[in-house]
Amino acid sequence: MKIFVTGGAGYIGSHVAKTLGDLGHDVLVYDNLSTGNEWAVLHGRLVVAGLEDKLTLARVLKEYSPDAVMHFAASIVVHESVISPIKYYLNNTACTLNLIEAMLDAGVGRLIFSSTAAVYGIAQGVPVLESAPLNPINPYGSSKMMNELILRDASGAYGGSFRHVSLRYFNVAGADGEGRIGQVYKNATHLITRALKTAKGELDRLDIYGTDYPTPDGTCIRDYIHVEDLAHAHVLALDYLSGGGESVVLNCGYGHGFSVREVVAEAKRVTGADFNAVECGRREGDPPELVAGNGKIKSVLGWKPVHDDLEYIIRTAWNWEKKLA
Ligand code: UFG
Repeated sequence: MKIFVTGGAGYIGSHVAKTLGDLGHDVLVYDNLSTGNEWAVLHGRLVVAGLEDKLTLARVLKEYSPDAVMHFAASIVVHESVISPIKYYLNNTACTLNLIEAMLDAGVGRLIFSSTAAVYGIAQGVPVLESAPLNPINPYGSSKMMNELILRDASGAYGGSFRHVSLRYFNVAGADGEGRIGQVYKNATHLITRALKTAKGELDRLDIYGTDYPTPDGTCIRDYIHVEDLAHAHVLALDYLSGGGESVVLNCGYGHGFSVREVVAEAKRVTGADFNAVECGRREGDPPELVAGNGKIKSVLGWKPVHDDLEYIIRTAWNWEKKLA
C-alpha cells in the first residue's frame, strides 16, 4: 500500500515509517523538519513541507494518491503548550483540519491519528479505559482532544468514505532494536531520555519531580510502551481500516506501569552508572498514575505486545543515546 506519513522524520513517525517500509509498503514522508531529521527517514521519499502550506499539501497528497494517511506531525511538549497555547492549536488542531480537508479533496479516506493519554487529564480510574471522560489539563492535551472530536464528526458526516483510528499513546520510549533511529529532541523532557543523558554525563543531575504522590513509593506511575510495539499497532490499524473497520479510538499501552523511582533504578542498572538523582517538588500538571486499559486494542486489532519489558526499553534507548555521543 501507499502510505502518506506526516511527521515521519520524527521519533515515533520514523519508527512507524521504518516498519511500513520493512513490510514492503510504499512510504511518502511529509515533514517540515522542525524537530525531525532527514537521516531518520529510512525508507521512501521525503517531502520537506509543513501542513500549514495548504497548496503544497493538497498537491503532494493528490499526486501521491495514498491508500492511507498516518498523522504524527505535532508539537508535543506539555510545558511549552501552557506557555504557547496558540502554537499548539495551530500546529496540532488547525494543521490537522488542513490535512483532513486535503484528504477529503483528494479522495483519501483512511487516517491513523496520533492521539495521547493527555486527553484524559487526571484519570479517575486505573487502568483508564477509552470510555473515560476527556478532561485534558493542558493545551497539548486539549489540541489533541479537539482533533479527536473533529475526526469523530468527520467520520459521522462522511460515513464509510472517511474512517480513522485514533491511537492514544501512553509513555512511548525505547528505540529501534538495530540502533538506527531513536529520540533526538533538543532539551528533552522525557524521564527515560533525561535519565540516560544524566548517566552519560550530558546532564549533571536528574530531578525526580515529586515524592509525595499517593502511590506506593510516592513517585508518579506511567505505562511505558516500546516504540516498536507502538509501530506494530499502526500496522494493525492500517490492516483494520483496509479491511473495512469502522472508526475507533484505542489506548496504546501495556496495562501496567512503573514509578519514577523504579525507572531510575532500572536506568542505573542498565547503564551501570550510579548517576545523581535528586528528589524535588512536583512538576505542575503531572497526574499521579496513568496506565492504559488495553483490552480494546487487543480485541479490535489483535495487538500483542512483544517488548513489554522495561529493561529492553531502556537498553534500546541507551544504545541509541550512546550512539548520539
Ligand atoms: N519526570 C521526572 N524527572 C524528569 C522527567 C520526568 O521525575 O526529568 C517524571 C514526571 O514528573 C512524570 C514521569 O517522570 O511523573 C514521566 O514524565 P515524562 O515527561 O517522561 O512523560 P509524561 O508522563 O509527562 O508525558 C507523557 C507524554 C506526553 C503525554 C503525557 C500524558 O510524553 O506527550 O504522557 O500524560 F501528554
